[in-house]
Amino acid sequence: MFPRPVCIDDFEKYAKIVLQKSIYDYYRSGANDQETLADNIAAFSRWKLYPRMLRNVAKVDLTTSVLGQRISMPICVSPTAMQCMAHVDGEIATVRACHSVGTGMMLSTWATSSIEEVAQAAPEGTRWLQLYIYKDREVTKQLVERAERNSYKGIFLTVDTPYLGNRFDDVRNRFQLPPHLRMKNFQTNDLAFSSEEGYGDNSGLAEYTANAIDSSINWKDITWLKKLTTLPIVAKGILRADDAREAVEYGVNGILVSNHGARQLDGVPATIDVLPEIVEAVEGKVEVFLDGGVRKGTDVLKALALGAKAVFVGRPIIWGLAYQGEKGVKEVLEMLREEFRLAMALTGCRNVKDIDKTLVRTNPLVVSKI
Ligand SMILES: Cc1cc2nc3c(=O)[nH]c(=O)nc-3n(C[C@H](O)[C@H](O)[C@H](O)COP(=O)(O)O)c2cc1C
Repeated sequence: MFPRPVCIDDFEKYAKIVLQKSIYDYYRSGANDQETLADNIAAFSRWKLYPRMLRNVAKVDLTTSVLGQRISMPICVSPTAMQCMAHVDGEIATVRACHSVGTGMMLSTWATSSIEEVAQAAPEGTRWLQLYIYKDREVTKQLVERAERNSYKGIFLTVDTPYLGNRFDDVRNRFQLPPHLRMKNFQTNDLAFSSEEGYGDNSGLAEYTANAIDSSINWKDITWLKKLTTLPIVAKGILRADDAREAVEYGVNGILVSNHGARQLDGVPATIDVLPEIVEAVEGKVEVFLDGGVRKGTDVLKALALGAKAVFVGRPIIWGLAYQGEKGVKEVLEMLREEFRLAMALTGCRNVKDIDKTLVRTNPLVVSKI
């Protein structure tokens, strides 16, 4: 029997054992040499906590809001594509687990359950749609309309993927969806990434992206998107202060500081390291969120201390799915919640407003010798 997981990494160990290799590789991988993949985790360790004592933490309130929606904790779920490869219930399990712990789920455009199926599985749940802009703008428009019709609460436009990053394992494995699965938001085989399409020698997903996704997207498309919907729009994948300012000028309602879980351009900084300059640049005009490498309650605390309104997690949800479907995702979210609660209490924070930037500093011992 596999021992009970006591930290998020334990869920990954289990997933590695049970998932088919090419599927585990797809979920785990970063781009190229995976420098950023390692740094997303390592960077959190470089930030040190400076706790406050004697603050009466008998009661700790984790609640907050994202884009006006109340949630039980500032830990939400990032979109990870094709979750039915990790567990037969895929995105349905994820949305149910999120709803049961009272937090929000972002559904991938590339989900193996449709916008409607996920909505029906948790009609009252807080759900957002992650959007890719397709070459065929009618396809994109319909995705947005379906999100609106099904009470999704916002659109997160992924801005870092005009092409797919180069993930070596997916190339080696010639990654494509298993034959029984499709991207359920689409009808035709080409858009649904069906294996019947017969992808070639490369990563099938890279080929799919090059064929279907509009690599000409630019800032004006935010204006286009705003005309399509009244839902809040968040730019997902911002890494620079000037881009953050530009996004605000184009009228986004939020910024998700993200490097796509280190799967796009290798060599970019860890998200936690660029968060402070982006928070400063937007001057409180919109909410700023972060994902990438969040694996512990103290990571959440550090991100909030540096100005994030909430964090999102990607891979840990996949590992929870592989572990025990809906129950596994719930366990992952509850573990993060309890770790975060303890981190708040031990730094003297009674609610999320008590978390401020005096609680973190980069390690003073790391000084450049140059
Ligand atoms: C397997 C996998 C699939 C992903 N699919 C998508 C996607 O469809 N759309 C998207 O915008 N981001 C996608 N991402 C990026 C995540 O939304 C998120 O930015 C990232 O996973 C956060 O990092 P973490 O996995 O270290 O928590 C994916 C990430 C992974 C690991």
